[in-house]
Amino acid sequence: MSVIYRQYSGEADLPHIMDLVQSELSEPYVVYTFRYFLHQWPHLSFLAYPSDPTNSVPIGVIVCKQSMHREASNRGYIAMLSVRKDWRKRGIASALVKNSLDAMKEDGVDEVVLETEYDNSAALSLYESLGFIREKRLYRFYLNGKDAFRLVLSIPPTDSYDGSDTTGSSPSSGSVASSSGVRHGMFRTIRASLYDHDEDEVSSR
Ligand SMILES: CC(C)(COP(=O)(O)OP(=O)(O)OC[C@H]1O[C@@H](n2cnc3c(N)ncnc32)[C@H](O)[C@@H]1OP(=O)(O)O)[C@@H](O)C(=O)NCCC(=O)NCCS
Repeated sequence: MSVIYRQYSGEADLPHIMDLVQSELSEPYVVYTFRYFLHQWPHLSFLAYPSDPTNSVPIGVIVCKQSMHREASNRGYIAMLSVRKDWRKRGIASALVKNSLDAMKEDGVDEVVLETEYDNSAALSLYESLGFIREKRLYRFYLNGKDAFRLVLSIPPTDSYDGSDTTGSSPSSGSVASSSGVRHGMFRTIRASLYDHDEDEVSSR
Protein backbone atom coordinates (compact mmCIF):
# COMPACT_ATOMS: atom_id res chain seq x y z
CA MET A 1 0.00 0.00 0.00
CA SER A 2 1.36 3.43 -0.86
CA VAL A 3 1.73 6.24 1.64
CA ILE A 4 0.52 9.82 1.40
CA TYR A 5 2.21 12.77 3.09
CA ARG A 6 0.68 16.08 4.00
CA GLN A 7 1.47 19.10 6.12
CA TYR A 8 -0.02 19.62 9.55
CA SER A 9 -3.40 21.22 8.98
CA GLY A 10 -4.71 22.27 12.38
CA GLU A 11 -5.92 21.24 15.82
CA ALA A 12 -7.79 18.23 14.46
CA ASP A 13 -4.39 16.63 13.81
CA LEU A 14 -3.21 17.19 17.36
CA PRO A 15 -4.69 14.11 19.11
CA HIS A 16 -3.22 11.85 16.43
CA ILE A 17 0.18 13.49 16.67
CA MET A 18 0.19 13.22 20.45
CA ASP A 19 -0.83 9.60 20.25
CA LEU A 20 1.94 8.75 17.80
CA VAL A 21 4.60 10.52 19.83
CA GLN A 22 3.47 9.55 23.30
CA SER A 23 3.16 5.89 22.43
CA GLU A 24 6.97 5.89 22.36
CA LEU A 25 7.62 8.32 25.17
CA SER A 26 8.89 7.44 28.57
CA GLU A 27 7.99 10.91 29.81
CA PRO A 28 4.86 12.53 28.41
CA TYR A 29 4.74 15.95 26.87
CA VAL A 30 2.10 18.40 27.75
CA VAL A 31 -0.20 19.63 25.02
CA TYR A 32 1.43 23.07 25.17
CA THR A 33 4.71 21.60 23.98
CA PHE A 34 3.03 20.22 20.89
CA ARG A 35 1.22 23.49 20.27
CA TYR A 36 4.41 25.48 20.70
CA PHE A 37 5.82 23.77 17.63
CA LEU A 38 2.69 23.19 15.60
CA HIS A 39 1.22 26.66 15.92
CA GLN A 40 4.44 28.50 15.08
CA TRP A 41 5.84 26.21 12.41
CA PRO A 42 2.87 24.32 10.95
CA HIS A 43 4.52 24.22 7.54
CA LEU A 44 7.49 22.23 8.90
CA SER A 45 5.41 19.36 10.33
CA PHE A 46 4.13 16.46 8.24
CA LEU A 47 1.94 13.43 8.70
CA ALA A 48 1.97 10.13 6.81
CA TYR A 49 -1.19 8.18 5.97
CA PRO A 50 -1.89 4.91 4.23
CA SER A 51 -3.39 5.70 0.83
CA ASP A 52 -6.44 3.60 1.76
CA PRO A 53 -9.17 6.27 2.02
CA THR A 54 -10.96 4.35 4.77
CA ASN A 55 -7.96 4.87 7.04
CA SER A 56 -7.92 8.41 8.39
CA VAL A 57 -5.44 7.78 11.19
CA PRO A 58 -1.84 8.85 10.54
CA ILE A 59 0.94 6.28 10.78
CA GLY A 60 3.86 8.68 11.08
CA VAL A 61 4.64 12.24 12.07
CA ILE A 62 7.48 14.73 12.17
CA VAL A 63 7.41 17.98 14.17
CA CYS A 64 10.01 20.70 13.65
CA LYS A 65 10.90 24.32 14.25
CA GLN A 66 13.19 26.91 12.74
CA SER A 67 14.80 29.95 14.30
CA MET A 68 17.93 32.04 14.42
CA HIS A 69 20.61 30.46 16.58
CA ARG A 70 22.84 32.89 18.47
CA GLU A 71 21.99 35.44 15.79
CA ALA A 72 24.45 33.62 13.57
CA SER A 73 22.73 30.78 11.79
CA ASN A 74 19.28 29.97 10.56
CA ARG A 75 18.77 26.66 12.32
CA GLY A 76 16.15 24.03 11.69
CA TYR A 77 15.37 21.67 14.52
CA ILE A 78 13.67 18.27 14.38
CA ALA A 79 11.73 17.96 17.61
CA MET A 80 9.71 14.77 17.20
CA LEU A 81 9.65 11.88 14.76
CA SER A 82 7.60 8.73 15.10
CA VAL A 83 6.38 5.96 12.84
CA ARG A 84 3.89 3.37 14.04
CA LYS A 85 5.58 0.06 14.75
CA ASP A 86 3.72 -1.94 12.13
CA TRP A 87 4.68 0.57 9.43
CA ARG A 88 8.40 0.81 10.10
CA LYS A 89 11.24 -0.06 7.74
CA ARG A 90 9.34 1.12 4.67
CA GLY A 91 11.03 4.47 4.19
CA ILE A 92 8.30 6.48 5.91
CA ALA A 93 10.55 8.24 8.41
CA SER A 94 13.04 9.05 5.65
CA ALA A 95 10.29 10.61 3.56
CA LEU A 96 8.96 12.60 6.52
CA VAL A 97 12.43 13.98 7.27
CA LYS A 98 12.98 14.86 3.60
CA ASN A 99 9.66 16.70 3.50
CA SER A 100 10.64 18.79 6.51
CA LEU A 101 14.16 19.38 5.18
CA ASP A 102 12.70 20.68 1.91
CA ALA A 103 10.38 23.02 3.76
CA MET A 104 13.25 24.28 5.92
CA LYS A 105 15.48 24.78 2.89
CA GLU A 106 12.79 26.86 1.30
CA ASP A 107 12.98 29.04 4.40
CA GLY A 108 16.76 29.33 4.04
CA VAL A 109 18.17 27.17 6.83
CA ASP A 110 21.94 26.89 7.19
CA GLU A 111 21.83 23.75 9.30
CA VAL A 112 19.41 21.28 10.84
CA VAL A 113 19.99 19.72 14.25
CA LEU A 114 18.41 17.22 16.60
CA GLU A 115 19.26 15.04 19.55
CA THR A 116 18.64 11.37 19.99
CA GLU A 117 19.52 8.81 22.63
CA TYR A 118 23.06 7.53 22.16
CA ASP A 119 21.77 3.97 21.77
CA ASN A 120 18.84 4.63 19.43
CA SER A 121 20.40 2.73 16.56
CA ALA A 122 17.35 3.04 14.31
CA ALA A 123 17.31 6.83 14.59
CA LEU A 124 21.09 7.14 14.28
CA SER A 125 21.11 4.98 11.13
CA LEU A 126 18.19 6.87 9.67
CA TYR A 127 19.71 10.31 10.15
CA GLU A 128 23.21 9.27 9.15
CA SER A 129 21.80 7.77 5.96
CA LEU A 130 20.44 11.26 5.23
CA GLY A 131 23.80 12.95 5.76
CA PHE A 132 23.58 14.00 9.42
CA ILE A 133 26.79 13.67 11.40
CA ARG A 134 27.37 13.31 15.13
CA GLU A 135 28.41 16.69 16.44
CA LYS A 136 28.78 15.88 20.12
CA ARG A 137 27.75 13.57 22.91
CA LEU A 138 25.60 15.19 25.58
CA TYR A 139 26.08 13.49 28.91
CA ARG A 140 22.99 12.61 30.93
CA PHE A 141 20.97 14.74 28.58
CA TYR A 142 17.65 13.05 29.24
CA LEU A 143 15.60 12.95 32.38
CA ASN A 144 16.07 9.18 32.42
CA GLY A 145 19.81 9.77 32.76
CA LYS A 146 20.73 8.65 29.26
CA ASP A 147 23.26 10.40 27.06
CA ALA A 148 22.32 11.90 23.71
CA PHE A 149 24.08 12.48 20.46
CA ARG A 150 23.51 15.83 18.83
CA LEU A 151 23.31 15.34 15.09
CA VAL A 152 23.76 18.10 12.57
CA LEU A 153 23.20 18.46 8.84
CA SER A 154 24.83 21.43 7.14
CA ILE A 155 22.85 22.90 4.28
CA PRO A 156 25.07 24.38 1.58
CA PRO A 157 24.05 27.92 0.61
CA THR A 158 23.34 26.83 -2.94
CA ASP A 159 21.12 23.96 -1.81
CA SER A 160 17.96 25.96 -2.00
CA TYR A 161 14.60 24.45 -2.72
CA ASP A 162 14.15 23.83 -6.44
CA GLY A 163 10.65 22.38 -6.48
CA SER A 164 11.79 18.87 -7.26
CA ASP A 165 9.99 15.94 -5.73
CA THR A 166 11.85 14.76 -2.66
CA THR A 167 9.10 12.83 -1.01
CA GLY A 168 11.27 9.78 -0.93
CA SER A 169 10.07 6.34 -1.75
CA SER A 170 8.70 3.39 0.07
CA PRO A 171 10.43 0.32 -1.31
CA SER A 172 8.21 -2.23 0.28
CA SER A 173 4.95 -0.35 0.15
CA GLY A 174 4.81 0.99 -3.38
CA SER A 175 5.06 4.59 -4.40
CA VAL A 176 4.95 7.50 -2.00
CA ALA A 177 2.66 10.29 -3.01
CA SER A 178 2.46 13.86 -1.85
CA SER A 179 -0.86 15.44 -1.16
CA SER A 180 -2.42 18.48 -2.78
CA GLY A 181 0.81 19.91 -4.07
CA VAL A 182 2.27 20.76 -0.69
CA ARG A 183 5.94 20.48 -0.23
CA HIS A 184 6.22 18.24 0.73
CA GLY A 185 8.93 11.40 14.14
CA MET A 186 11.16 10.53 18.57
CA PHE A 187 10.57 11.54 21.57
CA ARG A 188 11.75 14.22 23.56
CA THR A 189 12.03 15.07 27.15
CA ILE A 190 11.41 18.68 27.93
CA ARG A 191 14.42 20.69 28.92
CA ALA A 192 14.57 23.93 30.80
CA SER A 193 14.34 27.01 28.60
CA LEU A 194 11.43 25.51 26.76
CA TYR A 195 10.37 28.73 25.24
CA ASP A 196 13.73 30.41 24.91
CA HIS A 197 14.09 31.89 21.50
CA ASP A 198 17.59 30.76 20.82
CA GLU A 199 17.77 27.30 22.28
CA ASP A 200 16.30 24.02 21.25
CA GLU A 201 13.24 23.10 23.22
CA VAL A 202 13.09 19.41 23.63
CA SER A 203 15.36 16.47 23.28
CA SER A 204 14.46 13.45 21.25
CA ARG A 205 15.00 9.96 22.52
C1 LIG B 1 13.37 5.73 14.11
C2 LIG B 1 12.08 5.56 13.32
C3 LIG B 1 11.40 6.91 13.20
C4 LIG B 1 12.44 5.01 11.92
O1 LIG B 1 11.23 4.94 11.17
P1 LIG B 1 11.14 4.05 9.83
O2 LIG B 1 9.98 4.55 9.05
O3 LIG B 1 11.14 2.62 10.20
O4 LIG B 1 12.50 4.42 9.12
P2 LIG B 1 12.84 4.20 7.55
O5 LIG B 1 12.11 3.01 7.05
O6 LIG B 1 12.65 5.47 6.84
O7 LIG B 1 14.39 3.84 7.64
C5 LIG B 1 15.36 4.54 6.93
C6 LIG B 1 16.72 4.06 7.35
O8 LIG B 1 16.88 4.20 8.76
C7 LIG B 1 17.64 3.11 9.28
N1 LIG B 1 16.80 2.31 10.18
C8 LIG B 1 15.46 2.44 10.38
N2 LIG B 1 15.06 1.55 11.32
C9 LIG B 1 16.16 0.87 11.70
C10 LIG B 1 16.38 -0.16 12.67
N3 LIG B 1 15.39 -0.67 13.40
N4 LIG B 1 17.66 -0.59 12.85
C11 LIG B 1 18.67 -0.08 12.13
N5 LIG B 1 18.51 0.90 11.19
C12 LIG B 1 17.28 1.36 10.98
C13 LIG B 1 18.06 2.30 8.08
O9 LIG B 1 19.29 2.83 7.61
C14 LIG B 1 16.96 2.59 7.09
O10 LIG B 1 17.34 2.40 5.76
P3 LIG B 1 17.16 0.94 5.08
O11 LIG B 1 15.72 0.56 5.29
O12 LIG B 1 17.53 1.19 3.66
O13 LIG B 1 18.08 0.03 5.81
C15 LIG B 1 11.15 4.52 14.00
O14 LIG B 1 11.87 3.36 14.29
C16 LIG B 1 10.47 5.03 15.26
O15 LIG B 1 9.42 5.66 15.21
N6 LIG B 1 11.14 4.78 16.41
C17 LIG B 1 10.62 5.22 17.70
C18 LIG B 1 10.74 6.70 17.84
C19 LIG B 1 12.14 7.20 17.62
O16 LIG B 1 13.11 6.59 18.05
N7 LIG B 1 12.23 8.34 16.93
C20 LIG B 1 13.48 8.95 16.64
C21 LIG B 1 13.99 9.67 17.83
S1 LIG B 1 15.32 10.75 17.37
